[in-house]
Amino acid sequence: MTAGALDTDFTRHFRTVMGNFCSGITVISAMEDGAPVGFTCQSFFSVSLDPPLVAFSAAKTSTTFPRIRASATCCVNVLSAEQEPVSRSFARSGGDKWAGIAWHPSAHNRDPIVDGALAWVECSIRAEFDAGDHVIVLCDVLDVGCEARETGPLLYFRGRYGVLAESRPAESGRPVRSRRRPHGGELPRTP
Ligand SMILES: Cc1cc2nc3c(=O)[nH]c(=O)nc-3n(C[C@H](O)[C@H](O)[C@H](O)COP(=O)(O)O)c2cc1C
Repeated sequence: MTAGALDTDFTRHFRTVMGNFCSGITVISAMEDGAPVGFTCQSFFSVSLDPPLVAFSAAKTSTTFPRIRASATCCVNVLSAEQEPVSRSFARSGGDKWAGIAWHPSAHNRDPIVDGALAWVECSIRAEFDAGDHVIVLCDVLDVGCEARETGPLLYFRGRYGVLAESRPAESGRPVRSRRRPHGGELPRTP
């Protein structure tokens, strides 16, 4: 089947085939007028080490992304194996997505870090690129951190959530709370 004529059969087939690419799940969060906003996002990826850049794609239909864009900064929360309910909550449009979700402000931007997230990336939005029914959002990384708990990532594969059979602690079991990027410098390395 080809994309020659865009029809619902092709669209369905395209989604099914792309669903074979297993990924983690993130919640992209920001603050708007003192209140947290966020949405579930699978399309997050690391782009560059020098300078540190990450990216994700946001649907043009998203009602939350324009609010994140307006704040100019965001936090990428990498969800852990036990956070499927968090992913489901942030994939809904409308309603109070943050009801029952514990969070704390990030050190740099004061954007929301969802408690229990495996890792977080504090970002400043650098550029946006038009991409069909989505925009690709390129971000400068300002600060990163991860947990060393005995848990794995939340996964998404063929339209279903999953977890690894085994999980291992981050960075040989040593806790890594936060690695702030010095101005104009490199991220410190673990000795
Ligand atoms: C597993 C999963 C992955 C998703 N990944 C993305 C994504 O990469 N980009 C995106 O814009 N929406 C993604 N969504 C959909 C958004 O979470 C959802 O459309 C959005 O949160 C709707 O709420 P909003 O109107 O508040 O933006 C995903 C949803 C799920 C369940």
